[in-house]
This record gives sequence, C-alpha cells and structure tokens, in this order.
Amino acid sequence: MAQSIDLGEAMPPSGALPSSVIEDVESRSWHGYVHIPFCRVRCGYCDFNTYTAAELGTGDGAVSQTAFADRLIAEISFSQGVIEKAGLPKRELGSVFFGGGTPTQLPAGDLVRIFEALSDTFGIAPGAEITTEANPDNVDEEYLQELRAGGFTRVSFGMQSAVPEVLATLERTHKPENVPTAVSAAKSAALAVSVDLIYGAPGETLEQWRESLRAAIELDPDHISAYSLIVEEGTKLARQISRGQLPEPDEDLQADKYELADAMLTDAGFAWYEVSNWAKSADRRSRHNLSYWQSQDWWGYGPGAHSHIGGTRWWNVKHPAAYVQRLAEGVSPAHSREVLDRAVRAQERILLEIRTDSGLDIELVKAVNPDANRVIAAAIADGLIEPAAALHGRIRLTLKGRLLADALVRDLLG
Ligand SMILES: C[S@@+](CC[C@H](N)C(=O)[O-])C[C@H]1O[C@@H](n2cnc3c(N)ncnc32)[C@H](O)[C@@H]1O
Ligand code: SF4
Repeated sequence: MAQSIDLGEAMPPSGALPSSVIEDVESRSWHGYVHIPFCRVRCGYCDFNTYTAAELGTGDGAVSQTAFADRLIAEISFSQGVIEKAGLPKRELGSVFFGGGTPTQLPAGDLVRIFEALSDTFGIAPGAEITTEANPDNVDEEYLQELRAGGFTRVSFGMQSAVPEVLATLERTHKPENVPTAVSAAKSAALAVSVDLIYGAPGETLEQWRESLRAAIELDPDHISAYSLIVEEGTKLARQISRGQLPEPDEDLQADKYELADAMLTDAGFAWYEVSNWAKSADRRSRHNLSYWQSQDWWGYGPGAHSHIGGTRWWNVKHPAAYVQRLAEGVSPAHSREVLDRAVRAQERILLEIRTDSGLDIELVKAVNPDANRVIAAAIADGLIEPAAALHGRIRLTLKGRLLADALVRDLLG
C-alpha cells in the first residue's frame, strides 16, 4: 500500500493541504501507515520500495537504519502541524500498520518508539488494530513480546509458500519450518496472526499450492491473504522469465489456484471479505486494509509512503536519503499530490469497494456510466455478480466475478 505512481502536482514545501480536506471529516476514520524500507536481501519478485544495507551504502550521505526511527518521528511531528493548520479536528487513530520492506529489520524498541510517538500525537482509539509485517526468519518470542508490551496487537507474516522449491524460486530466505515457530511465538505473545501466501511462482504445481494452503490452515491463523504473483517490470524474476530461464505464470492455472484457495479456506472456516483476503470471523478482518478500501483518511509515514485525506492524496519521495534530507531541512517529504475531483473519487470507490464482500452501491456506477443498466445486466447474465444483491441495489461479486474483477471494473466504468 505504500507504493504510488509519480503523477500529480508538486507538493508545497509546507505540506499545506487544501481546505476541501475538512469537508465531511466527521464521516471518516483516521489511520496511520508506517513504511520501513529495509530488507536483508531482496526477493527476486518484489518491487516494493525497499533497500538492502549494501544499497544504502556506508559513506557520507548513507542512510543509517539506526537513526531511521528518529526521522520517522520527525515526520509524525511535521504531520501534526499540517493537520492543525488545515483545521482538521484531533482524531484518534483507529489502526496503525507498519509495512515495508521488512519492519522487523529494526529493533522492536524502534517500532515501539515510533508507535508511541503516534500515540502521544494523536491518541489511539479503544480496540485499535496495531499491526506489523514480519519476515518469519527475523523475529523470536522475545522480540514479539516486546511489541505486544509496547501496544502492538497483530503481526502479518510473509509466509508465501510451504514448499522449499517454490520458496527457492521466489528467492525467500526462510525455511518452511521457520513459519510455525514464528506463528507460535506470536500466539504466545497474544498477538493476532495473519499470513501472506503467493500463488503462481514459475513451475509451482496445483499440488504444491494445495500443500501451502494446507500448511497455512494448519497454523490456525486469524487471517490469510493469498496474492496472485505479479511479475513486476524491472525485477530479477521478470528478467528470468524474459530470458526463458523460468516459465511465465499460466492464467488458467492461476484461476484454478484461486478457486482451490477459496474452497479450502472456506472449508476451514475462513470467509472471504476482499478478493485476496480471508478471515476466521468478522472481527478478525484487517481493519487497516478495510480503511483503504473504504477511502477513509490515513497518513503514510516514511519513504515512498502515500497518504489520503478527504480526496487529496500525496506520496513521499521514494529514496530514504532524499526523505531524510527533506525532514532535516524542515520541509515536507512529499514528492507530489493530487486533489481528486468528484468523478475520480467515484471511480476509485468503484475500483476498491467492488473487491469487498459488502460490494458496491449500484447508484455509484450509474453516476459515472450512462450505460450502467446494460453492463450490470450483462454481468448478471455472465454470472459475475449476484442477482439477489443486485435486486437490492448492490453489486456483489460471485466467485467467477472475483476471478474477473479487473475486466468487470473496466466495463462498469464505461
Ligand atoms: C512487504 S511484504 C511482507 C513482509 C516481509 N517483507 C516479507 O516479505 O516477509 C508484503 C507482501 O506483499 C506480497 N508481494 C510482494 N511482491 C509481490 C508480487 N510481485 N506479487 C504478489 N505479491 C507480492 C507478499 O505476499 C508479501 O508478503
Ligand atoms: S522480504 Fe518482503 S519486502 Fe523484502 S524484498 Fe522480500 S517480499 Fe519484498
């Protein structure tokens, strides 16, 4: 969620927000994202904004991981000034999500210190969800206990697969047996647990995917995300595929894998609530991710992080050295911003809300597409959306619709 495209207008150095951000503010909740742009090594498929120690260098101008928490805390204090000047009311944070990169590359004490700065600045709403992503091979029980004691409530592990050959293709550093150890440590620390899986690594068979799903279910987590592997341009994986060293993911096999995931997860008592996400019960859904899908307000702290308040969104400079320098100079670390008009906001809501199990109000589609009735009737005839929900004015995806969600959105937007 921290990535963004470099379009838009320049952000003023003061970071000042337009007056439109306060419209209807009482109808929106408030959230924080913290981007930690460090990884021990880069996995071949990943194009997240993250850097290894070697990439960040050691000489003058190098970015120190040790001092990084202080820079983030500087952005938190900067954000407080921007929010007050915009006339936004003080709101407690309903969730905070530490993502990366690998947040757990930093000592637990640094993550807790950043969280405390957010808590002191904004306050934390009762029952708030405070998550960190973690790589299964760089946390132990002591580390996770320290996070729990410091206010964290949830950890999301990058499991990806349970099959050694698939982990090797993905260039993951952890062994399959690290995952149960990390998950039981998190449970002992009273943290809720989510695991991320990836399906479609080159050469992965349906049986191997079944084995990964079985292993993930066996862990008895609260929540599972299953992502179709995206071959991102510029990654080592993309180069290996274009040189013919690895086969390209097969679309039909990907669809079979999604169907298998939904069937096995449903059997095991998980319910889908977003195309790539399943939870054991409604209260174990990721409230933080729901805030993105429902276009709430959040500030994204850290290099490359993006933010959204009341229809204005902006994104920070990507390189940690540029980020640190801007904060040291007391200017906004934002690279650019966009003030979305009503039409674009409606389109974004369609794109995001359709992926969730509560679906989308048909009126939203009618507002942007004069041909909405015909497109919706065709989607019902094709088995992409539920007829009963449509009768009640909502567009809700069927299993087939979830598989073809991107194409359906294009049709709905007209
Ligand atoms: C920032 S990483 C998670 C934390 C930690 N860095 C790790 O990998 O263990 C977030 C998640 O994005 C997913 N992801 C990253 N690159 C992807 C890609 N190219 N295609 C699909 N999913 C991807 C992975 O499932 C990963 O767990
Ligand atoms: S550990 Fe996570 S963030 Fe880092 S390179 Fe691998 S998938 Fe990307």
